[in-house]
Amino acid sequence: MTDVLSSAAPAGSPERAAAPTFAVITGGQVQRALRGREKDLVELVEAVYRLHDAGDSVNPPSYFLRFEDRPTSRIIALPASLGGTVRVDGLKWVSSFPENVGTGLPRASAVLVLNDHDTGYPFACLESSIISATRTAASAALAADWLSRGRTRPTRVGFFGTGLIARYIHTFLAGTGWDFEEIGVHDLSADSAGGFRGYLEQTGTGARITVHDRAEDLIRDSDLVVFATIAGKPHVTDPAWFTHNPLVLHVSLRDLAPEVLLGAANFVDDVDHCLKADTSPHLVEQLTGSRDFLNGTLGDVMSGRAAPPPDRPVVFSPFGLGVLDLAVGKYVHDEVSRAGDLCLIDDFFHELRRYG
Ligand SMILES: NC(=O)c1ccc[n+]([C@@H]2O[C@H](COP(=O)([O-])OP(=O)(O)OC[C@H]3O[C@@H](n4cnc5c(N)ncnc54)[C@H](O)[C@@H]3O)[C@@H](O)[C@H]2O)c1
Repeated sequence: MTDVLSSAAPAGSPERAAAPTFAVITGGQVQRALRGREKDLVELVEAVYRLHDAGDSVNPPSYFLRFEDRPTSRIIALPASLGGTVRVDGLKWVSSFPENVGTGLPRASAVLVLNDHDTGYPFACLESSIISATRTAASAALAADWLSRGRTRPTRVGFFGTGLIARYIHTFLAGTGWDFEEIGVHDLSADSAGGFRGYLEQTGTGARITVHDRAEDLIRDSDLVVFATIAGKPHVTDPAWFTHNPLVLHVSLRDLAPEVLLGAANFVDDVDHCLKADTSPHLVEQLTGSRDFLNGTLGDVMSGRAAPPPDRPVVFSPFGLGVLDLAVGKYVHDEVSRAGDLCLIDDFFHELRRYG
């Protein structure tokens, strides 16, 4: 680290703060810090939702960068600030390039920058595709738990879209005590469905695994449905597929037609965030001119202000909040630091003396 601040401050000048440090945390370090910690991480995400619900966070709208020459791709900026005992600010910068999958690269890539609460100095840059998938899966597992309370607990899960996010969600459900009798799989790509089936078999699940060619069969056969596709427009339009009142984790946000949502009880993570960017809930608001179709947020459910009904489909549409990335990123940073493995970049902040 730079030593320019190690000389004594001139008499009469304010006491010098310690020189800021800057760490780079790799995907390997992130994965080692998070692996096998599903229960802790779901508890962390629950605590963050409660802080957000209590107003102890700043989470402005995400900023979408889109490209005329690459219409299926985007890069999103998620700035956020989190209070409580975490006290950290920062930014996730996450790309979605769906064509990557065809060349063997994951669709999403990301970095997360953490800023110090008191000085504003960035103190770490973390590989964040794993953090992003982790917080998304932890949020889905948390929602599955809270939104199935007071209802029959699901035993047959169906994964609609079976890429990386579906894999993480399965890991988090299994890691937090969900034990399914049946697991259904449906994907437009036979390779994806087969790959996901192979992953499930490796986990040693005792569940019967069925690959469904027809979307309708997957939904009708599941009492917990996880949507993790990359659909840009609704493609599931028939409310009759949901008459058995499943719990639906609508993580990919744009699969369900307004008629399906209008026949269900609807929960989101944050109302203003979710009713944007042509998500299915946003389409319902545009169609009906109101937000009356929303039953509440997950925070409302956790604090007893709203409850999932037992006799209707229940749909959770989480926009994905930057505060979750911050909390999981800070958790990773602290774990890596505790292990003495932080890779600090020497001389990163160089111009630190006001008058040279
Ligand atoms: N809400 C959140 O917080 C949040 C966070 C992260 C990711 N996501 C979303 O999760 C989704 C999945 O991400 P991923 O990284 O797993 O993507 P991925 O590309 O790895 O996998 C997506 C899968 O969906 C399949 N698919 C696409 N359209 C389909 C359709 N109409 N029917 C069935 N299958 C279909 C694809 O073949 C592919 O296997 C993305 O839409 C992403 O934006 C949401």
